[in-house]
Amino acid sequence: MLEKMFIKKKKIVFVCLGNICRSPMAEAIMKEIIKEKDLESLFLIDSKATSYEELGNPVYYLAKEKLEEKGINNFYHRSQVFEKKDYSKYDYIVAMDDNNVKSLLGIVNDDSKNKIRKLLPNHNIADPWYTGNFELTYQEIKKGCLLLLDEITEKLKREGEV
Ligand code: 4NP
Repeated sequence: MLEKMFIKKKKIVFVCLGNICRSPMAEAIMKEIIKEKDLESLFLIDSKATSYEELGNPVYYLAKEKLEEKGINNFYHRSQVFEKKDYSKYDYIVAMDDNNVKSLLGIVNDDSKNKIRKLLPNHNIADPWYTGNFELTYQEIKKGCLLLLDEITEKLKREGEV
């Protein structure tokens, strides 16, 4: 436990268009997973938008209901926008779809540290704002979060950080 206190936390930010459906769902789901695995001391998890459309708004009520159905309660969130200065703040910048990646590249200008990626490399996470299918989005996000967490923890182990 003591040694964990000196490890620099890996900072992950999930990004979508509005930051009221997919990326806050990813933030809440990832926080739940790392809590269950007792890995909270290793990570900082956040989420942001590529647009100002929903700035300051809470999680969309159907996304909130889906999280609650899965046992995730009391998740406080207000939509916030990803800005250029955020590039240096996070280690992993995790977009939901190709459009988010394009918007992020427009915001940061260059991704020389290869921080920007999609949650599922070969798949765009369905936007429930348009599909209405919050269960599918939940399942896709959960799968992506588990894969991402495995990848990062394996890397930390290889580098001797845990
Ligand atoms: P999200 O979904 O990007 O998953 O948060 C959307 C939320 C709001 C809008 C679009 C997508 N909108 O156009 O306001």
